[in-house]
Amino acid sequence: MSAQSATAFAPASVGNVAVGFDILGFAVDVLGDRVTATITDAPGVTITSISGVVDDLPKDAALNTAGRAVQALLERAAPGFGIALAIGKGIPLGSGLGGSAASAVGGVVAANALLPSPLSKLDLLKCAMHGEAVASGALHVDNIAPSLFGGLVLTVGIDHPRVKQIPVPAGVRAVVVHPRMFLATREARGVLSRSVEMSDFVWQTANLAGFISGCYTDDLDLIRESFEDVIIERQRQSLIPGFAPARAAAMAEGALGCSISGAGPSIFAWALDAQADAVRAAIESQFAVEGIETDGWVIDIDSPGARLV
Ligand code: HSE
Repeated sequence: MSAQSATAFAPASVGNVAVGFDILGFAVDVLGDRVTATITDAPGVTITSISGVVDDLPKDAALNTAGRAVQALLERAAPGFGIALAIGKGIPLGSGLGGSAASAVGGVVAANALLPSPLSKLDLLKCAMHGEAVASGALHVDNIAPSLFGGLVLTVGIDHPRVKQIPVPAGVRAVVVHPRMFLATREARGVLSRSVEMSDFVWQTANLAGFISGCYTDDLDLIRESFEDVIIERQRQSLIPGFAPARAAAMAEGALGCSISGAGPSIFAWALDAQADAVRAAIESQFAVEGIETDGWVIDIDSPGARLV
């Protein structure tokens, strides 16, 4: 008899990775959401429970990131049954760590395991995008793709997305610091200007190209030189108390780069293993100056994506 129920873990993520606004992200496997999908006779998606570090999310499936994503999966696969979802949140709301994406990804990975003919990962990505759009008001993939595929991921295109896992040089680790405060993605997207100076466009394009090239060629100098967001970060940094000194402190400790994780308020940096703990401590100490408590991690960037548990 085929399975009636499946549970998936989907990791948190950092997206944007500084220079790749809405297109480049990496998985953060120390945190994640856990979604259990169960077959129901009734068609459509129902949300039976939401628990964990967030519990006041919409239970109307069309308004819930996991619910909407699994609706998209059922629309695509038409399996002839419905799905009930129990969502366990491990990622704080409004943290900039891809919580809405993880719920969407966890939902589709769990539900996919129940389908007679499971969808491809790329199809799951497309379904999960619909869930992400419910939360942020926009279709973007920089959290969904790394949460689903793992590691550092570039996604090109929205209607027909192409996903590329980018190698990360050996010895490079990520520092992720979450200040315990809430910042709504919609708000952090709302402050962004609709137009970009030509000189900034050229600079940012060069940085993205340099960053990706540096990753493929193990060129740490090129990564360090390119690791600067000259468009988005400066528009958002005032939303995060202590961001500028935290970034400066991270760079003073030898970070390859440091920027806002997604829409914020979390901050991330890349550093060589030997410097990573000092970079984490430097960032956390600057939030302490602001009187903000933090959770901080040093993680491997090359981590697995969502999986059945
Ligand atoms: N790339 C998105 C942003 C992530 O920076 O607005 C937010 O979830």
